[in-house]
Amino acid sequence: MMKAQELKDKYLDFFASKNHKIISSASLIPENDPTVLFTTAGMHPLVPYLMGEKHPEGKRLANIQKCLRTGDIDEVGDAIHHTFFEMLGNWSLGDYFKSETISYSWELLTKIYGLDKKNLAISIFGGNQAVPEYDKESEKYWLDLHITPERISKVTDNWWGPAGQIGPCGPDTEIFYWTGSGIAPKKFDESDKSWVEIWNNVLMEFNKTADGIFIPLKQKNVDTGMGLERTLAVINGFDDNYLTELFQPIIERIADLSGKKYSNNKKAFRIIADHIRSAVFVLGDPMGIAPSNTGQGYVLRRLIRRAIRFGKALGLEHNFCTALAQVIINDQYYNHSYPEIKRNEDFILTELEKEEIKFRQTLKKGLREFQKKKSINGAEAFQLFSTYGFPLELTEELARENNFQINKNDFAAEFKKHQELSRTASAGLFKGGLADDSVMSKRHHTATHLLLQALRIVLGSHVEQRGANINTERIRFDFTHSEKMTAAQLKKVEDLINEQIEKRLPVGFKEMSVEDAKQRGAMGIFTQKYGEKVKVYTVGDFSQEICGGPHVDNTKELGHFKILKEESSSAGIRRIKAKLE
Ligand code: SER
Repeated sequence: MMKAQELKDKYLDFFASKNHKIISSASLIPENDPTVLFTTAGMHPLVPYLMGEKHPEGKRLANIQKCLRTGDIDEVGDAIHHTFFEMLGNWSLGDYFKSETISYSWELLTKIYGLDKKNLAISIFGGNQAVPEYDKESEKYWLDLHITPERISKVTDNWWGPAGQIGPCGPDTEIFYWTGSGIAPKKFDESDKSWVEIWNNVLMEFNKTADGIFIPLKQKNVDTGMGLERTLAVINGFDDNYLTELFQPIIERIADLSGKKYSNNKKAFRIIADHIRSAVFVLGDPMGIAPSNTGQGYVLRRLIRRAIRFGKALGLEHNFCTALAQVIINDQYYNHSYPEIKRNEDFILTELEKEEIKFRQTLKKGLREFQKKKSINGAEAFQLFSTYGFPLELTEELARENNFQINKNDFAAEFKKHQELSRTASAGLFKGGLADDSVMSKRHHTATHLLLQALRIVLGSHVEQRGANINTERIRFDFTHSEKMTAAQLKKVEDLINEQIEKRLPVGFKEMSVEDAKQRGAMGIFTQKYGEKVKVYTVGDFSQEICGGPHVDNTKELGHFKILKEESSSAGIRRIKAKLE
């Protein structure tokens, strides 16, 4: 049996032996990228470097990144999908390309992990409207490794990225493993679910612009991502990720608490285990997200509530979230890989308990409302949802159980309206991103560094950044501070920033070890491991902050800084909206 830690160590050792520098996992909350709520892939924190900025650790990197994908939430419940997962990745930033990445992947899987070649298959980019040519070059490299032509499939969809709306992307080649019973078929058919995709090699040649055009990147990159959960399962001969050590302790605890068996209730067990694990990682992240009705906090809320709802299906009528969270917090594997989880134990448990109490009350109230009725229409269902946080799917289920008349079309229309509403609400998100190196975003980004330092001077050194959302139109900045700022304080902050702008301070960066950065008093959330090199951006002598950039060269380019609003974001966190004029 291969342990998860061993699998990860072997991955990193292998790429270190191929001259890759090992970097740390970044926060689950993307820094300065308004186009996505969570880090969805290892490449995400590396976007500035894929676009051509120089990375302090060089051109070959590898790591294991915490990721969260809500796009797959409806798939969770099967054997292989998750919201939170760990991604093993390696990158070439304008260094090696197709031939090397394909041979590295093959060597690692077959020689280091010992996977049987007979069970592996490949898909390559089959061409599409924007790029009609199929990826002949990758095909050749796979054939050179003696993969049979029947095991190489050309797929139109083999295109990855960008992570948000704009940014680096390109054709990809994916590696699949046969998890079905019996011998793997000679011919690879990617629609057969027994072939599980374990590793994706993206051949990142393009930048998708805001106009939807693909332009060649300054440099050709490689971006690979392998899902730890799936790979650990297939290496150990499981056709179900939840049978691995990553989930078994949680599954066992659910069985203890509910008195039910996993084998008879797989879907509910999997959803609960997955969602609570995700919630623990979001709550335990250094950025400290709590449940709320917006952004990351809302996703977190939905994950917790969905877990509770599936708990009901197992007869779990009393609070159980913290009991499951404790399994993860005290698990040796998670403890070793992600010490922040143990460090933030109190916050995780308190917030989970609060949310579970709140949701159970909400459910009770909503149920009472529900029981007053004989039938329910779409608008009422939607009201239960918006007023009581009653998930629409729960309303549908309850209506069925109570033999209520429910007009399906009406309901679907209401649901669609809601989806459109939330899409419109989030449409404002999609105007920038890490890949957005437009002059305006760059200016706002530099102003954000000034803002953090000015807040620390005016309010005190307890102020830390808790998330920044920058686009071409404005800055949204969350920070730790528990009281409403006074008008005088706001004015002081504004004045201090405008003084720095008028001083025409140079903006630049130095590369140094993370310890040196800390010692110099640079700001940052310090997720890096000992000895890792980071970029510290300085604005004159006023501010120094760990950051990937890019920034303007001098504060004189910033114009005039104006605070638009100061408000509460969540408990202990304030939010400032500001812009440059
Ligand atoms: N970015 C690619 C993916 O997420 C490879 O890491 O699949």
